[in-house]
Amino acid sequence: MEMPEEIFDKVVKIAQSRGFVFNASSIYGGLRSSYDYGPLGVLLKNNIEKMWWKSISNLEVEIYPIDTAIIQSSDVWKASGHVGEFTDPMVDHKPTGERFRADQVPDHIKKEDLTEPRQFNLMFQTNIGPVENENSTVYLRPETAQGIFVNFENVLRTMRAKIPFGIGNIGKSFRNEITPGQFIFRTREFEQMEIEFFCDESEEDKWFDYWIENRLNWYKNLGIPENKLRIREHDESELAHYAKKTSDIEFEYPWGWGELEGIANRGNYDLNAHQESSGKDLRYFDPNIDNKFTPSVIEPAGGLTRTLFAVLLSLYEEEELEKEVRTLFKFKFDLAPIQIGILPLSKKEELIEVCNSIKSELGPYFRTEIDVTQSIGKRYRRQDEIGTPYCITVDFDTLEDKAVTVRDRDSMSQERIKIEDIKSYFDNM
Ligand code: GAP
Repeated sequence: MEMPEEIFDKVVKIAQSRGFVFNASSIYGGLRSSYDYGPLGVLLKNNIEKMWWKSISNLEVEIYPIDTAIIQSSDVWKASGHVGEFTDPMVDHKPTGERFRADQVPDHIKKEDLTEPRQFNLMFQTNIGPVENENSTVYLRPETAQGIFVNFENVLRTMRAKIPFGIGNIGKSFRNEITPGQFIFRTREFEQMEIEFFCDESEEDKWFDYWIENRLNWYKNLGIPENKLRIREHDESELAHYAKKTSDIEFEYPWGWGELEGIANRGNYDLNAHQESSGKDLRYFDPNIDNKFTPSVIEPAGGLTRTLFAVLLSLYEEEELEKEVRTLFKFKFDLAPIQIGILPLSKKEELIEVCNSIKSELGPYFRTEIDVTQSIGKRYRRQDEIGTPYCITVDFDTLEDKAVTVRDRDSMSQERIKIEDIKSYFDNM
């Protein structure tokens, strides 16, 4: 039985060597805990994002998409409580000057070597425009959620939205984490997928339960095994300043259970706070009672980059073959960065020509790649290792029988399929 830490190291190594994730600024020695997403990482991230939008586009309730600015007015962060409250207690190790989150000091460090905890705001601060003064201070958003709250009235009015409804937002968020780490699990720049779901206060609990189930199913549907997922309710002391109740969907990472997504009942905290600060009426007019009220909010807040890592960790497999071990990512067809590898048996021009014509036929519908380098066996291994569900091999018989071999990643079984039937073969996946 493999040690979980070994899986972590192997997955990180494959992610880096196969073009999923690169260390940022690597030619300059890298920047600690900053990562770039390579070609396969971008494809995988895009697929997760697409599956997220798809899963919320066809529900019994309407979820409107939005895409809000990273830099908003500083008033947004004052009203939301982030300027005052979005802090972590931090301590310095006096002998070395190293800085830790107060609850994450390594065991070997003595208490007397630490400074008293100080509050450290996690927002990145910068300036807008050519003059630097207190009026030019802005922040990089630490969550996508506030972009939704400050657009609540815009969406309500322009879309004639009726409660209950939600607004979804995906994008980069930034937190000056004191202790980033575990590869892309905790970084200072990351992507979030958040929904704010507006409902009547009397239905808060019903929608809270609904979203936990909906989001848990979504992770299962990505292919993450059920036994690697669990729900954990926050106790009183853990609750964020805005939350009435929160449950996390957790994933069993190699180092233990960790958060994938938080589902919070934010009550009417945010809309009230923005209403008070901005002086704008952010209440909802309910024609049934001929009156206005501030809706309650249920927030499913997930991490896109953190989900990508959970997907890599949980779909990684090793199989003992007769002479070697093959490694693979068992991505589902929809999720796989490359869905179909097209491999000519040799570099002969006639075979490459057939590959090109198959690629132009399948290319508009599927993510395909022609792979010509190295022996066919090595190419199968590479496609397994990047999680390609099917490979089409074009051999010399193809020139005669107009058929190709289709190899299934998981069973390694091979089937001869006529080229003219190849698109409909994959249409049914
Ligand atoms: N609007 C609420 C909110 O932002 P959160 O629990 O702080 O809640 C939501 O963040 C999700 O964003 C987390 O469950 C996690 O998946 C992701 N996330 C938060 N901080 C992160 C970080 N430093 N690196 C990567 N992902 C992070």
